[in-house]
Amino acid sequence: MKIAVLPGDGIGTEIVAEAVKVLNALDLPFEMETALVGGVAYEAYGHPLPEATLKLAKEADAVLFGAVGDWKYDTLDRPLRPEQAILGLRKNLGLFANFRPAICYKQLVGASSLKPELIAGLDILIIRELTGDIYFGQPRGRRVATDGHFPGAQEAFDTMRYSRPEIERIAHVAFQAARKRSKRVTSVDKANVLETFQFWRDVVTEVSLQYPDVELDHMYVDNAAMQLVRAPKKFDVLVTGNLFGDILSDEAAMLTGSIGMLPSASLNASNQGLYEPSHGSAPDIAGKGIANPLATILSAAMMLRFSLNQEAAAQRIETAVKQVLAQGLRTADIFSEGTTRVSTLEMGAAVVKAL
Ligand code: IPM
Ligand code: MG
Repeated sequence: MKIAVLPGDGIGTEIVAEAVKVLNALDLPFEMETALVGGVAYEAYGHPLPEATLKLAKEADAVLFGAVGDWKYDTLDRPLRPEQAILGLRKNLGLFANFRPAICYKQLVGASSLKPELIAGLDILIIRELTGDIYFGQPRGRRVATDGHFPGAQEAFDTMRYSRPEIERIAHVAFQAARKRSKRVTSVDKANVLETFQFWRDVVTEVSLQYPDVELDHMYVDNAAMQLVRAPKKFDVLVTGNLFGDILSDEAAMLTGSIGMLPSASLNASNQGLYEPSHGSAPDIAGKGIANPLATILSAAMMLRFSLNQEAAAQRIETAVKQVLAQGLRTADIFSEGTTRVSTLEMGAAVVKAL
């Protein structure tokens, strides 16, 4: 089992270190190799996704990823910015299916900004298409407008597009995931305005005919954003495109109390995957030892389950995380009166001990 370990920037190194300790405590035959990615890779090699890092990721069964980005790189040309590393990995490895579960742990109901009764027991799965849409659509760029409201003015543009096979394969992923849960899929689109998403709705509906046992409904993205804070428990599996999924998954993350708790998996057609916390590099708290490593530790559990075929080990990690929460241990992001505040290192050590 070959794992490429890419900690990246900001809190990435701190949280990935804890996940690696947890993996090592399992006593399984992993081969782990670490490489630079993001801003730190740019500093060292002049590129956020160096050839060697990409090669390592491609040859691994799975990639354990921290986070990339820092404000200090915001002025670099776009192809050199840290974010290009994660986009490049998704594209080069064909990681089209992004799983972002939003689960509210019962010990953390108080940490959410929503009323406890709205989110107690919340367990939804956002499936985000990850290699298409306006994120990757060509052409894009800047030019002088020849039409529109201000002909002759400078303008910028991106292209939103989805092909039939791209929609079909993510729809299959969603329906199959729903079969293992409560057999309901909500497809989120903007079919009332966008051609791309009318097509999305048509193709998802066609694919659904192959899953008569799964109930499908469609929702416009603006309404979905509202329903997620109004009655989040009404959702089960939510499938959507790259851009809407980016936004809705952050929203869903906050329902659970802290984005510091949420893992994610990005898979390609052969179940090779990249596993990363749903949160970013948080440069404001980097180096302070206060980041929550649980999202990364839970991402490692997803890695064991989806790419390494180690379901029992995945469950051991998930149980250990529940145990440390039950013990009242909390990093700053989930701390509340009556619980014990711990550092990144202490949280990692507690999970290892619980294992
Ligand atoms: C995410 C992030 C990325 C995205 C950025 C860092 C490029 O926000 O994984 O959700 O937009 O996909
Ligand atoms: Mg995002």
